[in-house]
Amino acid sequence: MKTTQRNRMMLVIGLFGGLAASLMYSAGADEPTKVEGDKLVAPSMTQPFAPSMLAAANNRKLSVDDFEDPQKCKTCHPRQFKGWMGSMHSVAFKDPVFQAEWALAEKAMGGQLLNHCGSCHTPIGIATGTVKFDPSLGKHGGFTAPKVAAEGVSCDVCHTAVRTTHAQSASGDPGNASLALNPGETKYGPLQNSVSGYHETQYSELHTKAEFCGSCHNIFHPFNQFPIEHTYDEWKVSPYAQAGIPCQDCHMVPVETSMRVADEMKRAKDLEEHGLGGKAATKAKREQSLVHDHGFVGGNAVIAPALGVENAEEHKIEAIKRLQNVAELDMDVRTGKGGAQELRVKVINARAGHHLPTSLTFIRQIWVDVTVTDDQGKVLLRSGELGADNRIDEEAFVIGNKSVDKYGKATVNPWEIARFEEMNTIPPKGYRTAKYAFKLPADAKSFKVDVKLNYMSYDQAVADKLLGKDAVKVPMVEMKALSRTYDAALKVVELRNLAQR
Ligand code: HEC
Ligand code: HEC
Ligand code: HEC
Ligand code: HEC
Ligand code: HEC
Repeated sequence: MKTTQRNRMMLVIGLFGGLAASLMYSAGADEPTKVEGDKLVAPSMTQPFAPSMLAAANNRKLSVDDFEDPQKCKTCHPRQFKGWMGSMHSVAFKDPVFQAEWALAEKAMGGQLLNHCGSCHTPIGIATGTVKFDPSLGKHGGFTAPKVAAEGVSCDVCHTAVRTTHAQSASGDPGNASLALNPGETKYGPLQNSVSGYHETQYSELHTKAEFCGSCHNIFHPFNQFPIEHTYDEWKVSPYAQAGIPCQDCHMVPVETSMRVADEMKRAKDLEEHGLGGKAATKAKREQSLVHDHGFVGGNAVIAPALGVENAEEHKIEAIKRLQNVAELDMDVRTGKGGAQELRVKVINARAGHHLPTSLTFIRQIWVDVTVTDDQGKVLLRSGELGADNRIDEEAFVIGNKSVDKYGKATVNPWEIARFEEMNTIPPKGYRTAKYAFKLPADAKSFKVDVKLNYMSYDQAVADKLLGKDAVKVPMVEMKALSRTYDAALKVVELRNLAQR
């Protein structure tokens, strides 16, 4: 991203009022929501930060002074700090795309979603009641929070978590920030018998479980309970869950290790020569067999670099590597009915522990780009081209879900989503097939098929809506490419796997 774009992106935290103000929300009769006066009451409304499931242990009243800044941890935990700083967790509050969507939610719902959205993106801000909406910020409004809360999902969010709260939720599943925080002297983590002169330590089995991540990586609509994002639930029914491989084994280790985890279907700690041993703190008296990376790298290569935070470039490179190693492509050409040629492109989710894409499946875009050219240079088929407006052609095979509101109208605003009209994501170790037809000219001796799998974090129209027109050009990542030349009898004469590793 160019510097000018970056500056503009930073300026545009916030958004429009007009559109938001005209949005109305009402619950359907079949939804488990009670309407009291003009307030919507979700089943989890008895929680202290309702409609979120976030809680303070023993219902303590928390203040920002109860939490520590990650900079303090850096002195003794440089390895964890380096991974975390520049991760999406470190920018979860500042993220301009999030801030924009949250401001829209705030305006549309009259503040009823402040706790909901904030509880995962700034748990400290919500738990201490210190987040403020400032309509004068940026163009359309934005949120402020004290520094320690603006650090998003920070060390002290995760390492003060003592238990889950989802037993009280409508679904009984982890989600909507179903964690109880107990900040103070003690840091809770995965080490047995660990000793630190700076803080007390306490072993926590919860931290070694996918359920811990699931607290924030499952999102239920707080009023209609629709599972808008369900990364944890996808994982739970996957072969990875069956093999006992939690999120931590892929997202708290380098990409190369995560690839081995997926290929060998083994836990990271059980891989031969994983090389991740070391000290959990600089002055620790002992070595650990595996120290966790804390990079939490997914597919987002846009936001941290746009904000210009420390280590953002490393995270961007890792995110691109992850995207380029998650899927496999295959293809097949045969003669169909009526003599036309049929092309089938198979997209395999080889290495993600959940669907591909996951979470914001209605915003993230993964699509197949196909070109078939004959030996005369004639283009016989073209699909999935990125237009001059940086948007995918409408006929493209897109891997994702289409979200609609209760009236069936397309929407990507989380508070309006009532269901998915189309579901087309790829389950772990599963695949989807894109089918195309073209007609080979009689004089063609051979033809070439070029297939690419591409990723964009957001549709350009969504970015324009949230950040302002031309504020940012959403970058595209080429995930995989495969090229094959066939003769007129449909036999492969040349194969090239153009994967960039
Ligand atoms: C249960 C936790 C949780 C809640 C509640 C939540 N989010 Fe998020 N949000 C996430 C996670 C996790 C991601 C990252 C998913 C990913 O990158 O695939 C995310 C990502 C986003 C993004 C995309 C950011 C980007 O740069 O790509 C937006 C926008 C967003 N959330 C807006 C909202 C709004 C608005 C609300 C309230 C209506 C909300 N979120 C409530 C957990 C939550
Ligand atoms: C999103 C939650 C999350 C955040 C943020 C986070 N951690 Fe962790 N941390 C974990 C989990 C989970 C583990 C245990 C992983 C396992 O054993 O499977 C862990 C492990 C650790 C350990 C034990 C040694 C190791 O690395 O395995 C230390 C020390 C630690 N974290 C410190 C930190 C510090 C310092 C920060 C901030 C710079 C931080 N953590 C941020 C979740 C988090
Ligand atoms: C003065 C040095 C120092 C500082 C500062 C420090 N720690 Fe630690 N921490 C340690 C040592 C030493 C250990 C023990 C490592 C071991 O047992 O191998 C440790 C262990 C941990 C563990 C593992 C606990 C367990 O039982 O699994 C976590 C989590 C942790 N620290 C988090 C933090 C966080 C969060 C901060 C910042 C708020 C922080 N630490 C600041 C020195 C420090
Ligand atoms: C307190 C809530 C919370 C917890 C706990 C949490 N996350 Fe997150 N996570 C988030 C939010 C919020 C974001 C998205 C920030 C954004 O996009 O603005 C996120 C982003 C991520 C991303 C980056 C997604 C991308 O698009 O690149 C990964 C990967 C991730 N989390 C993995 C984990 C794992 C693994 C754990 C458990 C060890 C975990 N998270 C625990 C809230 C949480
Ligand atoms: C076998 C390895 C593996 C496991 C296990 C795994 N993931 Fe992932 N995850 C990946 C890969 C590879 C990607 C990058 C491709 C993508 O974006 O889907 C990814 C992407 C993500 C993203 C970003 C999605 C996006 O593009 O916006 C989030 C968030 C995430 N994972 C969270 C989790 C959580 C939470 C768990 C556990 C419930 C988990 N992952 C388990 C490999 C894994």
